[in-house]
Amino acid sequence: MKIVIMGPQGSGKGTQADLISKRFSIPHIDTGSLLREHIAKKTEIGKIIEKPMMKGELVPPEAVDKIIKLRLEEPDAKKGFVIDGYPRQLEQAEFLDTVTDIDAVIVVDIPEDISVKRISGRRTCRKCAAVFGPDAKKCAECGGELFQRKDDTPEIVKERLKHYREETEPLVEYYKPREIVHVIDGTGTVEEVFKLIMQALS
Ligand code: AP5
Ligand code: MG
Repeated sequence: MKIVIMGPQGSGKGTQADLISKRFSIPHIDTGSLLREHIAKKTEIGKIIEKPMMKGELVPPEAVDKIIKLRLEEPDAKKGFVIDGYPRQLEQAEFLDTVTDIDAVIVVDIPEDISVKRISGRRTCRKCAAVFGPDAKKCAECGGELFQRKDDTPEIVKERLKHYREETEPLVEYYKPREIVHVIDGTGTVEEVFKLIMQALS
């Protein structure tokens, strides 16, 4: 199973990719988290991407293409994976086609007001990057401390949504001729959305 999961901010890409990863025993490859690790470790890539990321812009494709290629070469990704957050632009989709064949593209959709509401309330684990709602006190996966991402303010979410609608959503048309796209209503509960994804993949 080689899966790409797409959707606007807060649609639950990360939440659902985690569940898919556990169900199929395949790695969850989350480009946002991989990029944030580079920033935390102050690597060369981290220095290039920090500013655009904190403003809600897309980072330069060279940075993220390289990260994805290296991650897909790791042994655990050989039997399948679920990629969350990549591709986000036509150039990235074309690059991905040069390194692997995708079996399914899941598009989880929600309206903008739900995006802003969910993202404003999101808490992320400092240790393992798991995400929770506003009432969580510590990470239910590893017990780690929770924090609010700097790019999770309503203003920056609107900027990120603009990039999604203008650059990422058109990729649905790119994949459509291959008949691998499944558009899922993301407005239900986590369990309801997961059920719809499992039905689409079966
Ligand atoms: P990234 O970290 O990928 O952020 P994003 O795309 O903006 O998506 P989010 O992580 O905000 O949303 P999500 O859909 O994963 O929602 P989640 O499951 O957490 O990227 C960050 C930045 O990195 C980008 O802005 C860009 O700068 C850069 N970047 C990354 N990839 C790049 C690329 N390929 N090219 C260029 N730049 C790149 O859920 C959100 C909240 O809602 C949580 O609190 C969750 O608990 C809750 N929730 C989830 N599902 C439900 C539900 N069904 N009901 C109620 N609550 C729910
Ligand atoms: Mg995410």
